[in-house]
Amino acid sequence: MKSIASAPGKVILFGEHFVVYGVKAILCAIDKRITATTQFLDEPKIRIKSELGNAEMDVDTPLDLNSISTRFMKPFFYIVKETLREFNEKKGVEVVLKSDIPAGIGLGSSSAACVAVTASVVGLFDKKSKEQVLKKSIESERIIFEDVSGADSSVSTFGGLMAYDKNGFEKIYSKNNLSLIIANSNQVHDTREIVLKVREFKNKNEKMFADMCKQEKELVREALLRLKENDLNKLGSLISENQKLLKKINVSTDKLDFLIKEASKTSYGAKITGAGGGGCVISLVDESNATTTLENLKKISDCFIAKIDFDGLRYLQSK
Ligand code: PMV
Repeated sequence: MKSIASAPGKVILFGEHFVVYGVKAILCAIDKRITATTQFLDEPKIRIKSELGNAEMDVDTPLDLNSISTRFMKPFFYIVKETLREFNEKKGVEVVLKSDIPAGIGLGSSSAACVAVTASVVGLFDKKSKEQVLKKSIESERIIFEDVSGADSSVSTFGGLMAYDKNGFEKIYSKNNLSLIIANSNQVHDTREIVLKVREFKNKNEKMFADMCKQEKELVREALLRLKENDLNKLGSLISENQKLLKKINVSTDKLDFLIKEASKTSYGAKITGAGGGGCVISLVDESNATTTLENLKKISDCFIAKIDFDGLRYLQSK
């Protein structure tokens, strides 16, 4: 019997970077998913297969995280090992991952993978609540990135829109479905490095940065109201205002600026999503301007249209 679960990726609509300094950020799950299919094996092995590579280890070998060469695989081995231990199971397990979330560009693919793998592995034994799946998947992410906020996994588990800050997460109850065009700059970025650069900027420009945090806080406050009203014109201009602040803290690049300039010609508004320094740009559209914006951005980037995913974690099949 196979146990199958899938979980969505995410984008940050407002508040990246400023969230590190206490401002609320808004993110949403997108309709691009990772699916994990798990089954028992006759041999005592744990085998992980994905489009990005395969890895395996013996069931009895203690989990030595340094020995697993592929960094992104570590949480998956942790999840399988912990679950086998919990249920006192000696059989081997194979997990196969299939993804339609491009990896490594800030769309939450690692967190979605941890959520899907947790649900599918645990699903071999027992169907756990979303809260329990989320807890275990955050635990698994912490073994490679101790400071992970849990925001990506939370929105991936529960779907929809979410506001978060240092004090926690808050579901935004809005069924308005936004359409976003996500354009990949194809510039690689390192979130930690960029967060550190922003800290340096803040330390050199304390007063200016404090003012910017105030402006961002106001943008987010207004965005929460406009999301409920589905006012795309206003939301689009708030997105563009947010981009001005991101540009001021130097997380944009020439390529990102160019994508945003082109996207802004026809969409309601466009900005970086996530850490910046590369990664992706989002533009807000609806049926009136989606095709023109997409066609234009296709000439200069890899891009696709996404909508909000309201389901979060889905169990497709379990024992
Ligand atoms: O690039 P992403 O999607 O991992 O987002 C990073 C968001 C930051 O605000 C820049 C950092 C953080 O920890 O919140």
